[in-house]
Amino acid sequence: MLDRIAQLESEAMADLGAVFDADALEQFRIKYLGSKGAVKALLGSIKDVPKDEKRAFGQGANALCEKVQQQFDEKKASLSAGAPAQSTDPTIDVTVPGLPPRMGREHIITQTISELSEVFGRMGFDIVTGPEVEDEYHNFVALNIPREHPARDPLDNFYLDHEGGGHLLRSQTSTIQIRVMETTPPPVRVVATGRVYRPDEHDATHYSMFHQVEGLYVDREVSMVDLKTTLIQFAHAMFGVDADVKLVPSYFPFTEPSAELYVKMQLRDKVEWIEIGGCGLVDPAVFEQVGYDPEEWTGFAFGLGIERLAMRKYGITDIRWLFENDVRFLRQF
Ligand code: DAH
Repeated sequence: MLDRIAQLESEAMADLGAVFDADALEQFRIKYLGSKGAVKALLGSIKDVPKDEKRAFGQGANALCEKVQQQFDEKKASLSAGAPAQSTDPTIDVTVPGLPPRMGREHIITQTISELSEVFGRMGFDIVTGPEVEDEYHNFVALNIPREHPARDPLDNFYLDHEGGGHLLRSQTSTIQIRVMETTPPPVRVVATGRVYRPDEHDATHYSMFHQVEGLYVDREVSMVDLKTTLIQFAHAMFGVDADVKLVPSYFPFTEPSAELYVKMQLRDKVEWIEIGGCGLVDPAVFEQVGYDPEEWTGFAFGLGIERLAMRKYGITDIRWLFENDVRFLRQF
């Protein structure tokens, strides 16, 4: 008789080990613990046990009953807690909710570069690039920026060396204008995007590395009207036709006349006209440097800050957010 208890126990434990969901658990309960279940039947069979074995049998059967009930309770708790059921088989419970994979995305500056490249592409501009490590010739000399000019001050640039052409991290993408004209006969219509570097102090609108989009258009009889039309159309495409934009007269060594483009935008605690970049008609001295005949060719150029474009477009009130790499910020775009 005691063998029957041991046999029932091993059957019950094996069955319970194969239970992985609530339905199977209920089947188990009915089979063993229900009013017509095997454990109840075992307890009832005590009447058939010889008198001298009744005591041992009763104790064994009661112990089994408790054990099965306790194991059943534990299994029920673990299933309802969503814990994966224990099994020696490598079983996957496909009903357990998965961990959603977090999707990566392009940085908002990369997205903005794609958008503005698309706008200028529709206007007929080709996309070109140039090196971030430049020589003084392309960053300054060819752009009509003389040696004494304050823009060449070592304190305002990241110089890498002063020998062999004087290399630096480019401070402006205007370098690419020179590189394009050196290798391409006119007419040209190009935009270039890329990083530029200046040892500026960081604040809501300044950072020591940022991106510019440079444009160059060279043809016969290019005028200030062409420049203005192009920039206003671009601003409307980026910000909508209601955006407040204006051109203000300015000075750059490589353009004459020159202007600055301003856009009204929200910063941390105020709305301000913020300078987005410079532009102008290409100075004849620059054409002479690259071997274009300034009597025949005219052109306009512009260089705009991409961070500020993105800030205006997406309502970002501080440039520093763009480079903190806080995913709570980046995931919003
Ligand atoms: N390179 C100038 C800067 O970084 C911006 C600029 C001004 C670019 C006039 C141009 C231009 O192409 O024509 O401040």
